[in-house]
Amino acid sequence: MTPVRGVRLQPDGRRALGCGSGPTKAGRHGLAGGHGSAAGTALVGGALIALCVAAVTAQAPERFGIGAPASPEQIAALDIDVRPDGTGLPPGQGTARDGAGVYAKQCAACHGAKGEGGPADPLVAADPPGLAPFGPAYEQWRGARPDVPFTIGNYWPFATTVFDYVRRAMPPTAPGILTADETYAVVAWLLAQNGIIGDEAVMNAQSLPKVAMPARKMFVPDDRKGGRTVR
Ligand code: HEC
Repeated sequence: MTPVRGVRLQPDGRRALGCGSGPTKAGRHGLAGGHGSAAGTALVGGALIALCVAAVTAQAPERFGIGAPASPEQIAALDIDVRPDGTGLPPGQGTARDGAGVYAKQCAACHGAKGEGGPADPLVAADPPGLAPFGPAYEQWRGARPDVPFTIGNYWPFATTVFDYVRRAMPPTAPGILTADETYAVVAWLLAQNGIIGDEAVMNAQSLPKVAMPARKMFVPDDRKGGRTVR
């Protein structure tokens, strides 16, 4: 088989990879170099593939005609992030009292009956309540208690992002199963267990961003824009 026949395997006379007109001539000549050394052929073959890839890329259609535009409902189902300032909180509401049952059913197995922790992280601050895991007082305490946990009560700077996290990620075996009301309620329960709000306080899109988190003051807003402003 001559090398020239070798490149004419496609019924339309074009080479495999469908490179079209671009490097065809050079390519054929390259393969025709089969009368040279094996190494030389491999080298030229490699160059040919590189050229073909470039040619195929250049010829890629603008659209492939697959997929379908996402519907507003599909986008809404994914667009669920909640910002620290409460932007994105959905309609709905709940109190700690409402949330106790949700917590017992959906969360307690991993986080403990009262949020004290179990197979997964504790969610309720250890004694002394409200002590944030920062600063000299904490370091002193931690010296005696190297196992001090980071919890909603002593570490999270925003109640809104607890909502965001729970709604997106918990329970990890079936994230997304909680309704907005159930999420408000279970977050209210966690806030109440941490002594931050009362059992009857109604959590909703207006009240949740106003909850004063004990650790909030320990965080500095990071308003750096990148580039030279980052030191
Ligand atoms: C199957 C076990 C499991 C269940 C059930 C579960 N969680 Fe979790 N949870 C985890 C694990 C594991 C993590 C740590 C995830 C990580 O760090 O990536 C976590 C982390 C969290 C955190 C973040 C803790 C922190 O301070 O970093 C919160 C808040 C939380 N879960 C709330 C809930 C709530 C509310 C429910 C019930 C609706 C729930 N979880 C149900 C396993 C579970």
